[in-house]
Amino acid sequence: MGLVAFLGVETKGADDKEQPFYHQPVMVREVVEQLRCKEGGAFVDLTVGEGGHASKILEASSKVFLIGVDWDEEILERARERLKPFEGRFALVRDNFVNLPTILEDLEIREVDGVLLDLGPSLFHLAQPQRGFSFQQEGPLDMRMDRSRRLKASKIVNTWPLDELKRIIRHYGDERWATKIARAIGERRQRGGIKTTKDLAQLIAEAIPKRYYPERIHPATKTFLALRIAVNEELKNLKDVLERVPFCLRKGGRLGVISFHSLEHRTVKDVLGKLSKDCICPPWFPQCVCGGKRKVMEVITKSPIVPTEEEIRANPRARSAQLRVAERV
Ligand SMILES: C[S@@+](CC[C@H](N)C(=O)[O-])C[C@H]1O[C@@H](n2cnc3c(N)ncnc32)[C@H](O)[C@@H]1O
Repeated sequence: MGLVAFLGVETKGADDKEQPFYHQPVMVREVVEQLRCKEGGAFVDLTVGEGGHASKILEASSKVFLIGVDWDEEILERARERLKPFEGRFALVRDNFVNLPTILEDLEIREVDGVLLDLGPSLFHLAQPQRGFSFQQEGPLDMRMDRSRRLKASKIVNTWPLDELKRIIRHYGDERWATKIARAIGERRQRGGIKTTKDLAQLIAEAIPKRYYPERIHPATKTFLALRIAVNEELKNLKDVLERVPFCLRKGGRLGVISFHSLEHRTVKDVLGKLSKDCICPPWFPQCVCGGKRKVMEVITKSPIVPTEEEIRANPRARSAQLRVAERV
């Protein structure tokens, strides 16, 4: 299965040649329902991407105002084009979503009715070889979603201490062959380093013994995921924004987070878990030392919402998605 088919891109029909390809958003109906968009209000899509979820949120009620945030200028332009039918009912902001409080302050909005996070890169990023996310297409080792950031994958691969490289491949990629991969990268550094995605993918494939290749994924998948997480500081940004969202939501307002891999799932679960407790001291502590913390969120989804079989058939990328919802108390 090619990258595009695997990711579930909408295909062009013979009759709609002018239609652009768009990232196919996951669990749209569930998001609109859970965030209660039909009731109207102000919503923030913190990962607006190409505006797939955003357009459905705006469609839900003519009383919705949407603030769309993304740190990639190029993708925001696509969202702007797609959301044209809703002109006057949305604002788009280029920023890191961790800056949510100042984004709202600049727009003179005190609190909102709902916030959405749909994590990871967009198909728009993955499908462009020059962005360096895909090991199936030749491209530079870049992997930045926000191209104004300085750190690229090439810097991590070619200059970071090998122990640190091994740590991120093992920890972020859950890759048991991290030591061998880091060693192979170290050896290649002696011969001028690694320049391209395919170059790196091939080196990884050679470092892992063939009989231990994963069954359904390319042997480089986990290392590429680890590098992407490190380049974009994905887990740190996620934790920081989750801790800030409650203070931007009105009482009864909801947060929805769609996550795609185990480290994201765990981060969302842990942070929402902490925000929904009055006291976060370990149960064996004789007295509270966390400073009288008050619960700010109630987790609505005791188990995460997952896509229907039908959605997974239509969009295989949805397979690993989990939607967690929490409400401001
Ligand atoms: C999976 S895509 C979102 C797709 C979108 N829901 C749609 O329907 O088209 C995730 C988007 O989040 C953006 N993103 C990731 N981390 C970000 C951050 N820290 N700040 C702002 N945008 C971020 C990416 O650039 C990407 O466009």
